Amino acid sequence: MTTVAVVGMNYWGPNLARNFARLEDCELRWCCDLDEGLLDRHRGAYPSTRFTTDLDEVLADDDLDAVVVATSVPTHAPLATRVLDAGKHVFVEKPLATDPADARRIAAAGKDAGLVVMVDHLLVFHPGVTTLKELIDTGELGDVFYLYGNRLNLGVVRPDENALWSLGPHDISVMLYLVGEQPVEVVATGECYLQPEVEDVVFGQVKFPSGVIGHLHLSWLDPHKMRRMTVIGSDKMAVFDDMETERKVTVYDKGPIPRTETYGEYIQVRSGDIRIPKIQAVEPLRLVCQEFVSAIRSGEPPVADGDAGATVVEVLEAMSESMRSAGAPIRLDAGARA
Ligand SMILES: NC(=O)c1ccc[n+]([C@@H]2O[C@H](COP(=O)([O-])OP(=O)(O)OC[C@H]3O[C@@H](n4cnc5c(N)ncnc54)[C@H](O)[C@@H]3O)[C@@H](O)[C@H]2O)c1
Repeated sequence: MTTVAVVGMNYWGPNLARNFARLEDCELRWCCDLDEGLLDRHRGAYPSTRFTTDLDEVLADDDLDAVVVATSVPTHAPLATRVLDAGKHVFVEKPLATDPADARRIAAAGKDAGLVVMVDHLLVFHPGVTTLKELIDTGELGDVFYLYGNRLNLGVVRPDENALWSLGPHDISVMLYLVGEQPVEVVATGECYLQPEVEDVVFGQVKFPSGVIGHLHLSWLDPHKMRRMTVIGSDKMAVFDDMETERKVTVYDKGPIPRTETYGEYIQVRSGDIRIPKIQAVEPLRLVCQEFVSAIRSGEPPVADGDAGATVVEVLEAMSESMRSAGAPIRLDAGARA
């Protein structure tokens, strides 16, 4: 049995507790929150789990293997550091940290100590995204030209986090996973309509060394509810739409017809079949929790490890810098990732 503690039991933590508790090879040993009232809500569901308001009590448990940090974003880095210092594996909610240097430090500390650091890049584990990845890696889409994500809604408007930091980690982690390259440059612009200095709508772009471009549209001030990633390849195009129930992924056999020898002719396009692959119906969060437990057992780094988490934070911070500089291009320092 791998023993796990969940810290932070307000909105998201209980989802993690439920999924870890249901894994066959895992024991939910502790639930921890500063708020005793929140703990009381969950005692009945987990009769053999211990409940505490004191993280030190959790970290002092020699029979505990790992801690899941599901607290507010500014506390991620300090709590993850405490967990690693106590010699436990750590799973951290997205984003891993608010500062790229902290994120890199946590990733390195995990490696030095032989402990797993994993970040909840939930969508990377979504079977729809896994299908997109297969379509790219098997070459079915041809060469990827560009991709773009739309994450739009009306609400939830956060006072302490802008749309980039709140919504962006999902699409950025998916883009990095799909393209499989380290980004080299970003640009972003955003506007604050509802609150001063909190961007409600953000347009961002990530550039990869191969020339692939990833574009983001993030907003909580939009009439459409969209959770979509579109990939444009030289042979086919594919869309992952998480708002769809039965057609999560659609593959369009559409694209340019390769030019043979003619010079100066118009490029022609072709429009063929539309295919809807079957997508496994499983809660992505269950797959995330399984991956963490498997990584602890195997010693192999998980998908969405500390380095992946740190790269997402670097992209977020570079996009923030670009927004502060009226959309100026910001280079990403490859040296920091070595
Ligand atoms: N992956 C996803 O799709 C997804 C979705 C929603 C939220 N999240 C992430 O989950 C995290 C939690 O989100 P939330 O909305 O539940 O946050 P929240 O701020 O509502 O709740 C955080 C809880 O952590 C507790 N806490 C803070 N410091 C603590 C400490 N030192 N010891 C014990 N408890 C402590 C607080 O008392 C609070 O109850 C955030 O990082 C958020 O970004 C991820």
